[in-house]
Amino acid sequence: MLREVGWVEKRGEDSMYTNYETLRVEKKKGILWVYLNRPDKLNVFNMKMLKELSDVMDKVEEDQEVKCVVITGEGEKAFCSGADLGLLSKLDSQGALELSEIGQRLMKKIESLRVPVIAAINGYALGGGFELALACDFRIAAENTQLGNPEVKLGIIPGWGATQRLARIIGLSRAMEFLMFGDRISASEALDMGLVHKVVPQEKLREEVMSLAERIVEGPTIAQGLIKRVLIFGSQVPLDVGLELEKHAFSTVFSTEDAKEGLRAFLSKRKPEFKGK
Ligand code: COA
Repeated sequence: MLREVGWVEKRGEDSMYTNYETLRVEKKKGILWVYLNRPDKLNVFNMKMLKELSDVMDKVEEDQEVKCVVITGEGEKAFCSGADLGLLSKLDSQGALELSEIGQRLMKKIESLRVPVIAAINGYALGGGFELALACDFRIAAENTQLGNPEVKLGIIPGWGATQRLARIIGLSRAMEFLMFGDRISASEALDMGLVHKVVPQEKLREEVMSLAERIVEGPTIAQGLIKRVLIFGSQVPLDVGLELEKHAFSTVFSTEDAKEGLRAFLSKRKPEFKGK
């Protein structure tokens, strides 16, 4: 909308997601595939990758063609092995504060994005890479995946959200053990904890993620965006405040074309055709 009325600069669609040094981005049928693209370094985050991923999220907010985002790692070994430890080793306290703020801002951007985000975890998801997966709405993991927050083994703690998001997903007791010892867990252990939604063989990961993403793309985009935001923000506030959020989101969704289509389709006994409007 902001673009249509001239508030946001129009860009050529083809060049919108190109020219990244640390990412490879593909847009196909409403799904934006974002590959963290430093496979030789197990897709570790450097400052450039943080900035580029943040830039992609900003563009998705403007790009109404995108109805679902998938984040995955290039190569077969890693989703993302965290922040670059060479760079971390040079930080003082002020630098660490700044890095934490930059990472937290990116994770919040992903968490509050207007469309669902899937983490297709294709191998090691460690430290900041694991925190990236925690900020996504769905986590589908390949069988060979290992997940963890090993920071404590380095004498430090996570700084991009794990101390807050993890307990909200798996409960305080399990999060305590997970972060206090920093041991890696397998995909099947993560599944048992409710930390990932599904575990699939590595060669089936793309297909599984694609079918989930296609289901999302067929759905009512605005309602889906409201569901994720009300769930996430609602879990951070008292029940009465959450219920207020729900009430206004419920009211908002009634102004969408998709709500009219969904209700009309049910009454006409046909499948709805949502447009994301
Ligand atoms: N920071 C910087 N470089 C990293 C990295 C990180 N977090 N994780 C991996 N790499 C680099 C390695 O140094 C190596 O680079 P090199 O080829 O130039 O030596 C390359 O990625 C491949 O990793 P390697 O360690 O050789 O692979 P492996 O299969 O033997 O081990 C891991 C894989 C993930 C177990 C191991 O790389 C590891 O423990 N990494 C650190 C993970 C971590 O602590 N992340 C949290 C950071 S807060």
